[in-house]
Amino acid sequence: MDQINDVLKWICLFVLLWNAYFIFFNKGIPNLGSAKAIRSKVVQEFIEHMKKTQNTAPIIYDIGCGYGYVTRDLARSMPNAKIIGIEVNKISYWRAIITSKIVGIKNTHYINKNFHDVDLSNADGLYMFLLGRLMGQIRGKLEQDLKKGTIVISNKFAINGDWQPLKIIDVTTIAPSQKTIYIYER
Ligand SMILES: C[S@@+](CC[C@H](N)C(=O)[O-])C[C@H]1O[C@@H](n2cnc3c(N)ncnc32)[C@H](O)[C@@H]1O
Repeated sequence: MDQINDVLKWICLFVLLWNAYFIFFNKGIPNLGSAKAIRSKVVQEFIEHMKKTQNTAPIIYDIGCGYGYVTRDLARSMPNAKIIGIEVNKISYWRAIITSKIVGIKNTHYINKNFHDVDLSNADGLYMFLLGRLMGQIRGKLEQDLKKGTIVISNKFAINGDWQPLKIIDVTTIAPSQKTIYIYER
């Protein structure tokens, strides 16, 4: 019994330190991946938008791409697109790069920076799953950089301010905290 308690104690400590590391080095935003059903819907919405605007080689960003799940789904479904993941955390950044290499995806690109320091003016599309209380700052960055017509999809958090969503879509997922995406056009 004592041994089981010891093992449990070490597991809890590991989980605590692992999460603390990520919160500390992720600008306070946990590395929580978008749910699979959300990713599928996001890919579908980007594809529809690019078809509608006849953009055959769009540039799409995931600002805060984590391990790169969304970037890889987009890259697989849109082979002519350039998919750029920006990630501030080095471990997540390298894992995203290595995974793309291992699975043979050629149209993902990753930038290890704070997205506030990256010029997003060439974006045709932008995805984000960040944090509600930071949406004010993020809105400022999007207003400063994005060209007119850029499609912006936010998982879970509305942009607010003057931004009116074109669509609000509810998605059924197994992740209890993720169920709504907000779609905007700059
Ligand atoms: C909730 S995760 C989302 C991951 C991925 N976009 C997805 O939806 O599966 C948020 C990620 O944003 C990253 N992040 C937070 N603030 C950032 C910033 N200012 N610049 C770049 N990355 C940031 C965090 O490190 C974390 O990996």
